[in-house]
Amino acid sequence: MNKLPMLLDCDTGVDDAVAILLSKYLNTLELIAVTTVAGNVEVEHTTRNTLQVLELAGMEHIPVYMGAEKPLLYEAVTAHHVHGQNGLNDMVLPMPNRKPESMPAWDAIYTYAKQYPGELTLVAVGPLTNLALAIAKYKELPKLLKRIVIMGGAAVGGNVTPSAEFNVYADPEAADMVFTCGAPVYMCGLDVTMRAYLTAEELDELAALGSKQAVFARDVMQGILKFYRTYQLGGVAFHDPVTVLYADDDSNFQTDFAGVRVETKGKLTRGKTVTDLYSDKQMEHNAYVVTNVDRDVFKRRVFETMAKYGA
Ligand code: RIB
Ligand code: CA
Repeated sequence: MNKLPMLLDCDTGVDDAVAILLSKYLNTLELIAVTTVAGNVEVEHTTRNTLQVLELAGMEHIPVYMGAEKPLLYEAVTAHHVHGQNGLNDMVLPMPNRKPESMPAWDAIYTYAKQYPGELTLVAVGPLTNLALAIAKYKELPKLLKRIVIMGGAAVGGNVTPSAEFNVYADPEAADMVFTCGAPVYMCGLDVTMRAYLTAEELDELAALGSKQAVFARDVMQGILKFYRTYQLGGVAFHDPVTVLYADDDSNFQTDFAGVRVETKGKLTRGKTVTDLYSDKQMEHNAYVVTNVDRDVFKRRVFETMAKYGA
């Protein structure tokens, strides 16, 4: 099968790093470029982390474009307490052999969308600032994209506040611009990503695949695993990896067409993705909300994909 192009926009922290590793061996999508944004840690670190993980994956040919250092309107929000000071659980990888391209991320997004009209899947697993800037600068962009798949939001709950998930909370204005841009938007929020977890034992099984990439995937997730121990989840949610796997093949997931808008003013609810999924009051339906996944299928796909390293 001819694979279609994928651009990954990320704020490389620990789960973004695993998503990058998985992106090398997808079935229907081919990673052609990566853009970076401030989020889990500062954009200089997310960019360096991205370059390092691409080299670890043997994908040093994939161009990287640095993006926004802060959200559209307010100061940056970070998550060092989850991802470590450097964003990779404070693991030390070799310094990258190259620098990011000179073109900024928002121009790169448009350039690739023009190059692949109607074919480009944009997978965004960090705050949506780069994509919002691209939409603001290039009004034809939404019509050029095949679809936008985001890790972000939650029909129910939150992880930064009781009502907001980190990526949307970090830049709610940007997120609302994405949900209202007119392109097909697929939201892999906490509803599905919290069900896509691996236990500590399963992480060790992953490392036992034996490749340096599989061992890194286990090791880089140890810090967030400890953080999740307070959630009584029994494991660690693979937020960004499951989003990439969904973009590649959405079978074995539950997806519902719904209305989604982002609260940008609420004192308690800023950053909440307001959906009509569980309401009698319908909104204009503008996005696809992913609410469930078969965890066994998810786990199998992670292992099958990671097994291709060192195969
Ligand atoms: O809420 C989880 C999301 O926030 C993930 O993308 C994680 O990497 C952080 O960016
Ligand atoms: Ca992320």
